[in-house]
Amino acid sequence: MRRVYLDHNATTPLDPRVFEAMKPYLTDAFGNASSPHHYGRLAKQALERSRVIAAEAIAARPEEIIFTSGGTESDNLAIRGIAYHRGKGHIITSSVEHHAVLKTCQALERAGFRTTYLSVDRQGRVDPDEVKRSIRKDTVLISLMFANNETGVMQPVAEISGIARENGILFHCDAVQGIGKSAIDVREMCIDLLSVSSHKIYGPQGIGGLYVRDRTELSPIIAGGHHERGLRPGTENIAAIVGFAQALKIAVDEIDTYRVTVSCLRDKLESELLDRIDRVEIHGAQAERLPHTSSVGFSSVEAESILLHLDLKGIAASSGSACTTGDPEPSHVLSAMGISPELARGSIRISLGRENTAEEVDYTVGVLEAAIAQLRRISSQ
Ligand SMILES: Cc1ncc(COP(=O)(O)O)c(C=O)c1O
Repeated sequence: MRRVYLDHNATTPLDPRVFEAMKPYLTDAFGNASSPHHYGRLAKQALERSRVIAAEAIAARPEEIIFTSGGTESDNLAIRGIAYHRGKGHIITSSVEHHAVLKTCQALERAGFRTTYLSVDRQGRVDPDEVKRSIRKDTVLISLMFANNETGVMQPVAEISGIARENGILFHCDAVQGIGKSAIDVREMCIDLLSVSSHKIYGPQGIGGLYVRDRTELSPIIAGGHHERGLRPGTENIAAIVGFAQALKIAVDEIDTYRVTVSCLRDKLESELLDRIDRVEIHGAQAERLPHTSSVGFSSVEAESILLHLDLKGIAASSGSACTTGDPEPSHVLSAMGISPELARGSIRISLGRENTAEEVDYTVGVLEAAIAQLRRISSQ
């Protein structure tokens, strides 16, 4: 059957160049990077080379990069790490964050921390003035995502990190969906902690990183050895780290071509959907968005039924975050944007990738047009 993959915000295929870079560390160069012998030294060299590559991609210094198991762990390490180090205090975040941030903040609330969840406007953006109004004497951290995983809507990160810096508050940014899609310079953007993940940028799954600005004090969240400056104990996964660094380098080196390719496809997809199907809304369309993500709401249909139709025709898309699949509640992101529960339940996420083609977009629009017409006919009977 013909297959069209349009779920790149869930995960991406492994780039063959990344796989090639990883291969030696899955076979002959299998050493533990902490071992003092030949095998250990080979692993250690690969680890430190990868740290340099990862740091360069975001204008950081190598010693500021901590390798983790991915975006979820990086978010937890950033937020819990600062909270545990400070002992108590107030955290500001937004109501549209990924669950890796939201549930971490909720867990900290149960441990006595206070959290303010910023609202967003109809386009999904946080208001910097609300950030200013939310700051308290005991605010220790502002955590805001670079871009939303469901809608692609970008937050005014540089403006809000500037507010944090002026007030002596640390700023964490979940850039899991933004990295490699929009340029990120942690120094210029006044970011103290930045979470990234490999599998959203054609790297292997289960690996990611946390940028921790020089002299930022935080506590580890798991106990163990001295690895990763003691902030992330555990034997490093060298093959995955090498793959992640390679994927990051490719994503940053090729960002301009990527942006042109996917934004042309995204614009074509959205304009054809709006032309050919009535009662359709593109969420966050007036905001600055990532170039490859489209959150589309269809009135009077259920997203799960649309996705089933797409899957039967070989098209993979999603109803929102892969981490909330099966959740009967409408998306917390779309709800926070003030989108009605009815439209939120009929919303799907299409996230394009560099291997998609205009012909695949045409095919998808045709399948969607037929599916929506059929589902609306059934629901009106
Ligand atoms: C914005 C955001 N943050 C965090 C994560 C979690 O990343 P990982 O899958 O690497 O744990 C995701 C994954 O979808 C995400 O989209």
